[in-house]
Amino acid sequence: MVLDLTPDELLTTTRSVRKRLDFSRPVERELVEECLALALQAPTGSNRQGWQWVVVTEPDTRRAIAEHYGRNFDLYLGMRQPEYAEGDARAARQDAVRDSATFLRVHLHEAPVLVIPLLEGRIDGADAFAQASYWGSILPAAWSFMLALRSRGLGSAWTTLHLPNEREVAELLGIPFDRYTQAGLFPVAHTAGTDFAPARRVPLDAVTHWERW
Ligand SMILES: Cc1cc2nc3c(=O)[nH]c(=O)nc-3n(C[C@H](O)[C@H](O)[C@H](O)COP(=O)(O)O)c2cc1C
Repeated sequence: MVLDLTPDELLTTTRSVRKRLDFSRPVERELVEECLALALQAPTGSNRQGWQWVVVTEPDTRRAIAEHYGRNFDLYLGMRQPEYAEGDARAARQDAVRDSATFLRVHLHEAPVLVIPLLEGRIDGADAFAQASYWGSILPAAWSFMLALRSRGLGSAWTTLHLPNEREVAELLGIPFDRYTQAGLFPVAHTAGTDFAPARRVPLDAVTHWERW
């Protein structure tokens, strides 16, 4: 079933869902495939389509990935976080994001499905052109995947914190590390309810430059 959302509603209410992921409800394989098929409509540099997608449902494997994630999350949480001025949209959400992210850290292994998008090649140390072309060939598809999930009553959160252990996770999943780079980790579950709200952001005029910086 596809939710009755306008394009603008879909674009403004596709959130990082963590506490409202319903871990008790299985996710049908067909739904994941439908959302991945939509993601494959995203653009890629030179139409290379060098992507691969690893979908993990096996509980022990999910737990092993979540352990890497959790260790890195704990280190990250202990690091100095950015400080924002009072009234800044980011300051207002900082505690809630931290609380929500900590919840996901504890429960990540319970997500019925974990999806890892991969892109052919490794880009370590490359210049801005190569980096932008590389990441720009997987990130639009990953976002489309999140939009497609949302449109079908599922949710996810874009995460990257397992990546300090990218090599270990590659070994665990049989991914050829030298040939494929992992772009993130997406826990997937049905959401508890389907009403989500637009987020408060840093205002447009603070981030837009017309004609010149
Ligand atoms: C590149 C990237 C990496 C992220 N990594 C994580 C992560 O490892 N863990 C997590 O809980 N959230 C992660 N997030 C989610 C952000 O915290 C979230 O997008 C932000 O707080 C805004 O919330 P919203 O997506 O609901 O608008 C990541 C988002 C992006 C785009």
